[in-house]
Amino acid sequence: MNKSGVELTDEVRKAALDANALLESGKGAGNDFLGWVHLPSSISEAELSDLESTAARLKAKADLVICIGIGGSYLGARAVEEALSSSFKYLHKQHDTRIVYAGNNLSEDYLHDLLEASREYSVAVIVISKSGTTTEPAVAFRIFKEEIERRYGKEEARERIVAITDKSRGALKTLSTQEGYKTYVIPDNVGGRYSVLTPVGLLPLAVAGIDIRALVAGAVHMEQATATDKPFDENPAAVYAAVRNILYRSGKKIEILGSYEPRLQYINEWWKQLYGESEGKEGKGIFPASVTLTADLHSMGQYIQEGERILFETILSVEHPDHETKIDADKDNLDGLNFLAGKRLSEVNAQAELGVQLAHVDGGVPNLRLSIPQISAKMIGQLIYFFERACGISGYMLGINPFNQPGVEAYKKNMFALLDKPGYEEASKEIRKRL
Ligand code: PA5
Repeated sequence: MNKSGVELTDEVRKAALDANALLESGKGAGNDFLGWVHLPSSISEAELSDLESTAARLKAKADLVICIGIGGSYLGARAVEEALSSSFKYLHKQHDTRIVYAGNNLSEDYLHDLLEASREYSVAVIVISKSGTTTEPAVAFRIFKEEIERRYGKEEARERIVAITDKSRGALKTLSTQEGYKTYVIPDNVGGRYSVLTPVGLLPLAVAGIDIRALVAGAVHMEQATATDKPFDENPAAVYAAVRNILYRSGKKIEILGSYEPRLQYINEWWKQLYGESEGKEGKGIFPASVTLTADLHSMGQYIQEGERILFETILSVEHPDHETKIDADKDNLDGLNFLAGKRLSEVNAQAELGVQLAHVDGGVPNLRLSIPQISAKMIGQLIYFFERACGISGYMLGINPFNQPGVEAYKKNMFALLDKPGYEEASKEIRKRL
């Protein structure tokens, strides 16, 4: 990691290590949600085998699996699936079971279009909600449950639906028990945005053909690399959290996560949720934004170079692509590109990355670089745990509880009042006065 322009004082090093120790001791704020800290190393062979066999069963029945969930019950699976798949896998005529996502919005057209398209496939559903009461996935599940029962009958529908939810609470748990669905439990002490390495992420990923064992092995490696016995300079999560903290205190209020690999775009989305929901509270916190490069150099690039100087960037840099594509010489050279002849595209991409970094640093935007050798299941597993651990450390350094999300309730209260949900009668009257 490059730490351009940032002085890592003894004070900030100690603060980062203290925060890391607090995660380990379980004495900090939100300590009932620390189940993710040793989650990777606690995943058993039996759990992985069970997930793989459920995935195989769903794949044998369906060529389209609809994953219903929102926030932490959705973004992790999508991020990992997209990172580890060809960007165009569904263009191949021969392809594995397709995965699509629903329950992450309330758009009528989105659900309509998905319902219509899904009728061309044999379908199964994975429905994920820790609380079991979140409106978006609950609405989508009601619609797809009815659809599947209509198409296959109630008995077969039961074989095509898997629910992932709380062990005892919530409407989804009640419904699943009543209907007899196969269910997986989201541990009480793992919050949604830290749950990608539970069945929440692992089951959809196994369906998508991702090597979940390698993913977990990578996370275990990073669990060890960020443990409290590691000195500050050898603990990447502590270093990242400390650098962010210094930059934040120096007025850099926005962090932009960027990558030059488009298939990491949903890693950005997952990261934004992890950091935004964990840190944005009590009037504090770095605002997490993202760019996909080089595309966004032609849109956000101008602002980053010359807009308000409240930004810093973290570039997720991939050293080696999976495949080789060379630029050939052209005898006419009408496009003037022969200076690139014989080069691999990745060399051009790397020089773009370096050139942008230098330009942005010159423009007053500090740049951090997180470098990974290649995009593999093991590396993505490492990355996930790295970001989670750093987020916990960073949240404690900020003096907030990184494991709650009280602010998410405000919109729900208004929405339920406007929709006349039973129990919201007073709120309904109040809110209507404002309209
Ligand atoms: O991180 C979180 O806790 C949230 O983003 C939740 O994952 C999200 O609100 C979905 O909640 P649930 O899984 O209860 O439906």
